[in-house]
Amino acid sequence: METTTAVSGASLGIEDGRTGKSYRIDLVDQALPAASLRAIKVDSEDFGLLSYDPSYGSTISCHSAITFVDGERGILEYRGYPIQQLAANCSFEEVAYLLMEGQPPTADQLRDWERALAEAAQPRSELLELIGHLPPSAHPMSSLTAAIAAMGAVYPDARQISTPAERHGHALRLVAQVPALAAASFRRHQGLAELQPDPSESYIGRFLDLLFEPQSVQHHEAVRRALDVLFILHADHEQNCSTSVVRDVASAGADPYSVAASGVAALSGPLHGGANEAVLEMLREIQRTGDLPGFLAQVRAGKRRLMGFGHRVYKTYDPRARIIQEVANEVFQAVGKNPLIDLATELEQAALADDYFVARRLYPNVDFYSGLIYEAIGLPVEMFTVLFAVARTAGWASHWLESEADPERRISRPRQIYTGPRDLRYPSPS
Ligand code: CMC
Repeated sequence: METTTAVSGASLGIEDGRTGKSYRIDLVDQALPAASLRAIKVDSEDFGLLSYDPSYGSTISCHSAITFVDGERGILEYRGYPIQQLAANCSFEEVAYLLMEGQPPTADQLRDWERALAEAAQPRSELLELIGHLPPSAHPMSSLTAAIAAMGAVYPDARQISTPAERHGHALRLVAQVPALAAASFRRHQGLAELQPDPSESYIGRFLDLLFEPQSVQHHEAVRRALDVLFILHADHEQNCSTSVVRDVASAGADPYSVAASGVAALSGPLHGGANEAVLEMLREIQRTGDLPGFLAQVRAGKRRLMGFGHRVYKTYDPRARIIQEVANEVFQAVGKNPLIDLATELEQAALADDYFVARRLYPNVDFYSGLIYEAIGLPVEMFTVLFAVARTAGWASHWLESEADPERRISRPRQIYTGPRDLRYPSPS
């Protein structure tokens, strides 16, 4: 590969200023295969050049055929289908099938899939007992992480993952049971008794049955449809933080329940799924102080972040945020308007007209409006990210299935730039 030829076509020329040598590296799918850099050495003792990318913002970690995101144009597709079509026409069960199996289900496949999800929906009693033993003050995301990890302890087949059939069985169980574990975490947090779902209900209907008393306003058709849409929008988003964590943990061969629990743990952070919770807290604070310009001044000064704004990949309006705005209006008509919506709209308008946000291309993301809907339907803020996790389980399961079937996968193992001391003499105790 050592050569002095100029750059052309799908290759890249590199001149090493240390040695004066020139190299040509063939690109793979228009990306630099970082392992090729290892051939660039100062001398034969040299380990070879490595790339430095601390938050992976410039790193492609895998091939994936699940979700396509074009952050410049605001495009999101699952298995090639635009998110707008899926949100308008599909149920969450259908989208979960599409993500996991790669193709939309036929009518028969959908019926079988819905039945299988319903039959597998009841978690083993130990899992519900475990949640019941945690203090009511426990954050429901912590309870959910613990309960999903514990699935690996109570299901004896948890480590049997060598065949596609075994793996699909685990993926189905995860998607089927996570609503009941989420609902149990919620009921425990609220000090309320568990509820029983109507087994003939849809996925979303069963989840609502487990969350809210029968006859309550939350069973309104507009709320069901809103949750269906919100779950579809949150189901996957290519190599986001939690999905990358999921693939990393899976690369070590861990059981799928440990893998999914690691995803929930990553999602809980306020820079990721926890942002929907942080948005509501931020809006309440601005409402209390009545000082929106003062808040924006703090953001401009780098002291605060406008939660629900900005995205690593989207440099335009997040397509999911637009759909959520429409859903919000439908829910508010059914269950009453969230009084914070006017403030959120005012904040969005002010930010979009502000040079700080314009220069950095910061727009509302999926989390800006979702919390307002969750609050309007009577969920406490601690539950917002839990709902995100229930929906994203379909995405994590799809990525787990895909990565397990990838013959090129190796254990994830980045390197570092060591900054500590070397070769010290250990002091004798004095
Ligand atoms: N408010 C104020 N400034 C921001 C924000 C924000 N929300 N987001 C980014 N910036 C600024 C940041 O300070 C930086 O400015 P400068 O160049 O002067 O240092 C610039 O924009 C680039 O930001 P970054 O932190 O390098 O961007 P990132 O890609 O590392 O972070 C992000 C992406 C989503 C973590 C970030 O935009 C953020 O913290 N947003 C608020 C939290 C949030 O809404 N998260 C949900 C993300 S979408 C759903 C999900 O992933 O779960």
